Amino acid sequence: MDFYCIRAINQDDVPFLWDMLYEIRSLRCVREEKIPSRDVLQTPDLAKYLQNWGLKSDRGFIALDAETPIGAAWYRLFTVDNRGYGYVNDRTPELAIALLPQYRNKGLGKSLLIHLFAQAKADGYGQISLSCAPTNDNALHLYQKLGFEQVGVYIIQNWIMKKVLN
Ligand SMILES: CC(C)(COP(=O)(O)OP(=O)(O)OC[C@H]1O[C@@H](n2cnc3c(N)ncnc32)[C@H](O)[C@@H]1OP(=O)(O)O)[C@@H](O)C(=O)NCCC(=O)NCCS
Repeated sequence: MDFYCIRAINQDDVPFLWDMLYEIRSLRCVREEKIPSRDVLQTPDLAKYLQNWGLKSDRGFIALDAETPIGAAWYRLFTVDNRGYGYVNDRTPELAIALLPQYRNKGLGKSLLIHLFAQAKADGYGQISLSCAPTNDNALHLYQKLGFEQVGVYIIQNWIMKKVLN
């Protein structure tokens, strides 16, 4: 049986988080049949998900296979003047999640999200948000199964989704 470990993110994990952000961005481009250069991570709309990581409200978890990072989920609080793609309001953190391709569909995404929900609740948040392309079947299935509902759209091709934490 596979054995994986999930623990809270620390500052040493930040380079891996950038790798995961690139996974998320590249996935969109695979569908568009053009893989972006890693320079895309420097665009402000994307960089804001990780730049200066370690702010008081930054939280996340990393999944490991033995000592090797294989996926991560994290959230950040954005503001009305500095919105993420899944912005709802200033009191709702927005999450991002990705696993290396060979570790998908093993239930790890669900485990990472459950850790994140518990953390967000402990931090006093009543809800959590994200953005997802409606064509991302795997992710959408997981989000809906865990209680996310569409509450808006971001530039047509992305849904804004929200889950009440209970
Ligand atoms: C999205 C992601 C984090 C999900 O993590 P995961 O570990 O693969 O998810 P899980 O295994 O916990 O659950 C996946 C669910 O989707 C289902 N699924 C898989 N492929 C599917 C498909 N094509 N259509 C519908 N459902 C699908 C699985 O059966 C499972 O549901 P079940 O538990 O009811 O059987 C992961 O796939 C990933 O890293 N994707 C690339 C990055 C990405 O898209 N990030 C999110 C951006 S919004």
